[in-house]
Amino acid sequence: MDVKNVTVLGAGTMGRGIAQASAMAGCSVVLYDIKQEFVDGGIAGISKILGKSVEKGKRTQEEVDGIMGRIKKSIDLAEAVKDADFVVEAVPENLDLKKKVFADLDKLCKPAAILASNTSVLPVTAIASATQRPSKVIGTHFFNPAAVMKLVEVITPIGVAEETVQITMDFCKKIGKVPVKCKDTPGFIVNALLGSFYQIAAQMVMDGVATAEDIDTAMKLGANHPMGPCELADFGGFDIIANGSDEMFKYTSGKSGQLCLLYRKMIEAGRLGRKNGKGFYDYLPDGTKKPFKLF
Ligand code: CAA
Repeated sequence: MDVKNVTVLGAGTMGRGIAQASAMAGCSVVLYDIKQEFVDGGIAGISKILGKSVEKGKRTQEEVDGIMGRIKKSIDLAEAVKDADFVVEAVPENLDLKKKVFADLDKLCKPAAILASNTSVLPVTAIASATQRPSKVIGTHFFNPAAVMKLVEVITPIGVAEETVQITMDFCKKIGKVPVKCKDTPGFIVNALLGSFYQIAAQMVMDGVATAEDIDTAMKLGANHPMGPCELADFGGFDIIANGSDEMFKYTSGKSGQLCLLYRKMIEAGRLGRKNGKGFYDYLPDGTKKPFKLF
């Protein structure tokens, strides 16, 4: 099957990026969320990013109009998925919520439709079990910012059909991504590794080994990472990191996913990262950032 109609559920950071990438590749996209303001926010976010690319001379206004014209908004799930070849779910990381969404999708989508979860940490096999079509349920784990980052981890739960895996790999390539297959294991590849990266960096800050800024500088200049671990933790959000770690801890019986106390303290202090302008750094209205003095 050549995927033409894509529905993305959830217009948050990940959902809007996946919708943008799909529309840029020529797919017809429906961006769904439960409230009109959420969908409008997602569309406004995509429009702003694409607007900047016109200012930078990377795209023409006509190209941007074409991309935006391929994205429809919806707050009606049945309507949003009725023509979908491929559904990507990007709703909050809660297993019960995802199972409910997949049970609904199973009833509402056409039989050939593939149902993919963008979960970064939850078991896709458990999500698939909420449907009568586990052979057509798969994980597509995109990375933030999803419109830009090349990787998609294609997560293969128990019971997935080889045809589903192939269609998914082809779809990822069609939208300009590089898919990598991975078994349904906690944190998959990247987050299983990045999790330790976040924890060790925060522990170094707590232990006074170096400042967050110096740790970031060290990893950018010493390991050629585009962002240091503290900047990246700010970018992802401490609440997201805490939730991911707690899920990892649960599914590995504590073998991994031990959250550094500093993240819990930051969350208690109302510091969530870049999303509210307060993380390891303070993000200022003029677009710059300055290190926050933690201790
Ligand atoms: N949302 C959408 N697009 C964004 C963006 C954002 N937050 N930030 C930057 N971009 C886009 C820009 O619009 C620009 O696009 P065009 O080329 O079309 O104009 C492009 O990215 C490059 O941006 P810039 O030139 O402004 O900045 P940059 O070259 O410094 O790149 C970056 C920015 C891509 C974010 C880069 O710093 C980077 O790669 N950082 C690391 C990101 C990373 O590691 N992500 C993975 C996080 S882990 C994860 O995602 C796990 C999970 O489970 C969600």
